[in-house]
Amino acid sequence: MTKKVAVLSGDGIGPEIMAEALKVLERVGVKYNLKFEFTEADVGGVAIDKHGKALPEGTLKTCEGSDAILFGAVGGPKWEKLPPEQQPERGALLPLRKHFDLYANLRPAKIFKPLIGSSPLKKEILGDGIDILIVRELTGGAYFGQPKVLGAEKAFDTMVYTKKEIVRIAKIAFEAAMKRSRKLTSIDKANVLSSMVLWRRTVEEVGKQYPQVQLNHMYVDNAAQQLVKWPAQFDVILAENMFGDILSDEAAIITGSLGMLPSASLNEKNFGLYEPIHGSAPDIAGNGIANPIAQILSAGMMLEYTFSQGKVAQAIEDAVAKTLDEGYRTGDIMQEGMKLVKTKEMGDLIKERI
Ligand code: IPM
Ligand code: MN
Repeated sequence: MTKKVAVLSGDGIGPEIMAEALKVLERVGVKYNLKFEFTEADVGGVAIDKHGKALPEGTLKTCEGSDAILFGAVGGPKWEKLPPEQQPERGALLPLRKHFDLYANLRPAKIFKPLIGSSPLKKEILGDGIDILIVRELTGGAYFGQPKVLGAEKAFDTMVYTKKEIVRIAKIAFEAAMKRSRKLTSIDKANVLSSMVLWRRTVEEVGKQYPQVQLNHMYVDNAAQQLVKWPAQFDVILAENMFGDILSDEAAIITGSLGMLPSASLNEKNFGLYEPIHGSAPDIAGNGIANPIAQILSAGMMLEYTFSQGKVAQAIEDAVAKTLDEGYRTGDIMQEGMKLVKTKEMGDLIKERI
């Protein structure tokens, strides 16, 4: 069966790293006999420039006609003067998440052994490295809650969660924990926010269906601290939208570089949007020096979650690990004595190792 993929490269380094991910997918297609059909569509700032809006109807149609979306990154200084809701992030990425009901955002923060030295944390703190899965709720909370008002003197967002929304994301987290070390930390701010009181109560209730999972609750401020103090205590982290956003950046940086981490955003039918957790990095765009690994690993997650090709996803991850083991590095993860390569070479090296 042909696997239809909407390719939305977006802005900044998006197109550069996407080219490498597509190369890798073509390679696995040949090796594992998978047939892909890639359809490119404009999104973000480039779409604003060409079509007058960040998420044109044609792009949405392409996505609707596909099995998955491979997404690069959007945004940049060029579009920052537009009204907030027309900017690439709020005009394209958030509507895409909402439109496809992509409520389950999976962000694995795993450190590749050769990169332990790139982490800002001390070796003693890292121990054997870290392997955390952040499950972030992606279609609720203050990002989408109504009313949302931006006035000249007063502005507000509404942080709202229904029990149903909490139940469905909690189940994803418990299921993930069952497949890993059966340890789940749920993040909230139940000491201050009503929505988070409901969050804690509901997670507790869902937990009764998973007696094998060891569940604990942690306030988000404490979690931010614990992540740098003792990251190894975490296995699966469950968080609402904004807390998950913040903690996943923090977790990402302790793995060595933001340029390494992929993500999957899934709905109930396993339709997914796959994107690196980093942004469009306009400061280095066009130089061919960006790290394509997060985009390549995002393609791997697409194979695993939407296309049920876990073995092929593993082959991609192994090829990345091998390339790093052999000492190849892009600038963001460069260490003394290693071989500095550009975006294209990194993509080629990974491709050849599959
Ligand atoms: C992310 C990003 C987005 C978010 C932005 C670009 C809207 O930071 O995917 O983590 O806040 O969700
Ligand atoms: Mn973020």
